[in-house]
Amino acid sequence: MSVISRLDVLNVRNLSNVKLLPAQKLNLIFGDNGSGKTSLLEAIHLLGLGRSFRSQKLDSIIQNEKEECVVFCELAEGASIGLSKSRRQGHQLKLMGEKQRNWADAARHLPVQILNSESFLLLEGSSKVRRRYLDWGVFHVEQDFVGAWRKAAKCLAHRNLLLKQRSPDRDQLAAWDIELCRLSELIDSSRSEYFALLCPALLETVAKLIDLPDLNLQYCRGWDNTADLASVLKAGLVKDLKYGATQHGPHRADLVVKIGRSDAVEILSRGQQKLLVSAMKVAQGYLLSQLIGVKSVYLLDDLPSELDASNRRRVCALLDELDCQVFMTCVDPEDLEKSWPAGLMPRKFHVEHGKIAQRY
Ligand SMILES: Nc1ncnc2c1ncn2[C@@H]1O[C@H](COP(=O)(O)OP(=O)(O)OP(=O)(O)O)[C@@H](O)[C@H]1O
Ligand SMILES: [Mg+2]
Repeated sequence: MSVISRLDVLNVRNLSNVKLLPAQKLNLIFGDNGSGKTSLLEAIHLLGLGRSFRSQKLDSIIQNEKEECVVFCELAEGASIGLSKSRRQGHQLKLMGEKQRNWADAARHLPVQILNSESFLLLEGSSKVRRRYLDWGVFHVEQDFVGAWRKAAKCLAHRNLLLKQRSPDRDQLAAWDIELCRLSELIDSSRSEYFALLCPALLETVAKLIDLPDLNLQYCRGWDNTADLASVLKAGLVKDLKYGATQHGPHRADLVVKIGRSDAVEILSRGQQKLLVSAMKVAQGYLLSQLIGVKSVYLLDDLPSELDASNRRRVCALLDELDCQVFMTCVDPEDLEKSWPAGLMPRKFHVEHGKIAQRY
C-alpha cells in the first residue's frame, strides 16, 4: 500500500517551505485561487512520475529567484523518495537516500493517479496521452516492460535518424528493424494482456458512475493486426523515407474509446466525460491493487468543477471503496463537504499564499 506519511516541499512554485503530515486516507487541500493547491499536487506527482502535469520543463516549477527546488516524501511502508532540481544542473532523484539513474524503482513505490482538467485529454487528446495511460498500468504490473520500451524507443530513434538520410544504409536499417520487431512484439503482448484485464474492470467501474451501455474500448497495437511488423515496415519503407519517420509500430498504439460508433468525446457532455475519465483512472488503481496488491495515491484537482453533487458523491464513493490515499483540492471545502461517505473525516489543510496549515 502506498501512503505518504510525510511530505516536504521546498521552493516549488509559490510553496517556499511546506511540511505536511497527510492522513492515510483523505486529505482536503483548500484555499483561494492562486494559493498553491495545484502546486502541492504537482510536487507529489513529480515524485511518482518524474514529471509535472503542467510543464514540459522542470525549470518552470522552481520558485522564481530560487536556484533549486526539493520535494521529499516518506511512505508509511518505510521507503523515502527525494527529488531535487537546480537551475544549473539536471534533477537528482533518491530512493531511500540512494541516487537513482532513472525513475522506475521510485515510481514502483509510489503509483500516482491524477484527475484534473488535463484528464479530458484521455478522450480528446492525441494517442500519446492514452498510450501513457495504458503504459502506466503495464509498467506497474509487468516488470520487464520498461526495459523493452526503452530499448524500442532507442531503436526507433536510430531508425528515424537513418530514414532522414538521403540514401540510408539498407543493412543498418534492416538490423534496426529486426531488433525493433522483436521488442515491439514484447511491448504489444504486455499491453494487450494488460488491456484484457483493464477492459472488464473499466466497464464495471464505469457502470457504477454512469449509464453508458454502448461504451466500447479497443486496443490498437500501432500496426495492422493481421500482419507482422517486419512486413509492415517493409511495405511502408517508401512512406517512412518520405516522412523521415517510422509510421507504424508500438509508438503508434492507441486506446480507442467509443460510444457506439462515435468517439466518446463527440457524444458525451463535459460532466459525462469527467465521469468516464474518472472511471478510467479508478479502474487502473483497482486493477493494480488486485494484481500486485499495491494501492495508488490519488490526486484530484478541483473535483467539484463539471460534476453535480450526486456525481461527486459517486466518484468519492468509488475512491472510498479503493481504500487508498487521496489528496483533493477545492476552493471552498463546503463544495466537497457532503461528497464523502458519512463518518469519514478528511484531514483538512488550508493553503494561503504558499503556506499550508492543518485545520481541525
Ligand atoms: N515558478 C514559480 N515561482 C513562483 N510562483 C509561481 C511559479 N509558478 C507559478 N507560480 C504561482 O504560484 C501560485 C500558485 O499556483 P497554483 O496553480 O498552485 O494555485 P491554485 O491554488 O491551484 O489556484 P487555483 O484555485 O486558481 O487553481 C500562483 O500564484 C502562480 O502564479
Ligand atoms: Mg489549481
